Amino acid sequence: MSPILPTRRPNAIRGRQNRLSTARILKYCILALLGLLLYGMHDQLNVFTTVFRRIPNTLNSQPSEARGRNNLNSLTNGIGTAPKDNGSQETLNFISTSPTTQYPKFGKCTASFGDPDPPYEAAIASHALHNEIYGYPHFILREHMIRGLWSKHGWIMTIIGQELAKPAEQRLQWLLWHDRDTVLMNPQIPLDIFVPPDPEFSHIHLLVTNDRNGLNNGVFMVRVNQWAFKLFASALSIREYQPEIVLKYTEQSGMEEAIKRPWWASSVAYVPQRWFNGFPPDIENAGDNNRAHSREGSLLIHFASNRDGLRPERMAHWGEIARNRTSTWEKPVDQTLYQEEIAEFWKRMGKGESYDKINKDIGGRTWSISK
Ligand SMILES: *[C@@H]1O[C@H](CO)[C@@H](O)[C@H](O)[C@H]1NC(C)=O
Ligand SMILES: *[C@@H]1O[C@H](CO)[C@@H](O)[C@H](O)[C@H]1NC(C)=O
Repeated sequence: MSPILPTRRPNAIRGRQNRLSTARILKYCILALLGLLLYGMHDQLNVFTTVFRRIPNTLNSQPSEARGRNNLNSLTNGIGTAPKDNGSQETLNFISTSPTTQYPKFGKCTASFGDPDPPYEAAIASHALHNEIYGYPHFILREHMIRGLWSKHGWIMTIIGQELAKPAEQRLQWLLWHDRDTVLMNPQIPLDIFVPPDPEFSHIHLLVTNDRNGLNNGVFMVRVNQWAFKLFASALSIREYQPEIVLKYTEQSGMEEAIKRPWWASSVAYVPQRWFNGFPPDIENAGDNNRAHSREGSLLIHFASNRDGLRPERMAHWGEIARNRTSTWEKPVDQTLYQEEIAEFWKRMGKGESYDKINKDIGGRTWSISK
């Protein structure tokens, strides 16, 4: 006998049982509908508006898909944690936003390839908490794409191209490039604060900083659009088109050369270096007002110089300070002078002051904050 047969019911019995259970389901459905109808009449409302009005509330209370996207919801969910000043690590809602605020969406990109290099991996990892708080996707290139240092341009073009291939409303709107030798010091600084005010400065697509040698493209912010895609294509190709131009700092000089040209220049803003590309502060000097140095509370530190060969040690030291999360360095944005400085910058720029003048002035301030 086949082992399957005993479990099989004759078709006639199965048919009758199906009819019975169908009838039962129908009965419950009718009862449920009657119940809804009575409830609706009782409320003097249409049954369906009553029911449907209830549904969105339950849906809204779900944590949104915001984790991977830095929209409003990821901010108001308060996933940040307080600095460990007193040993407790309490979750708090340090970011208060209006529910109607629409933030531009940011992503970050960097490159680190070749043999694993612990100090640089630690520096990249220092960005993780910041990414988590604001939902920034982090694109890390792990292969040498293009000869020399030009992978940076190749990678940015890859990310921007990938975004431009999406429907506009699904794209990232801005990218932060950071070299791998940057340590994220204050994860409570959202990148959105740097975005040029709309519509007055919606033609500004690139925020860069100069150091005393000219452009320092270790960290910059760029709008995700065709302009940016073409800028990096242009910078990447200068060597081929104009080999007579000396690119002292290879890809950095390529970018500097490109953004000086009329086609690009009017969409580039040169902002104070220490906003997001400052070098380590002078720890011996409490009132350090060096324009090139980060302040306590700055977003990050860029370890650009390695003349003494001590870059890994310096990165390790500041990485430890970042991991210690003391309130000296890690503080809410409104306990820093960022917002005042940024507002002042755009206002003065709107009045036609030169970048040089604004940056010398704002950049050279100390941050003595006793809020
Ligand atoms: C630590 O900080 C939290 C939050 O401010 C506070 O509730 C708690 O009492 C503090 N603990 C100590 C030991 O100071
Ligand atoms: C980080 O915190 C530990 C423990 O409190 C401390 O021993 C260490 O000196 C701190 N590191 C720095 C660089 O401040």
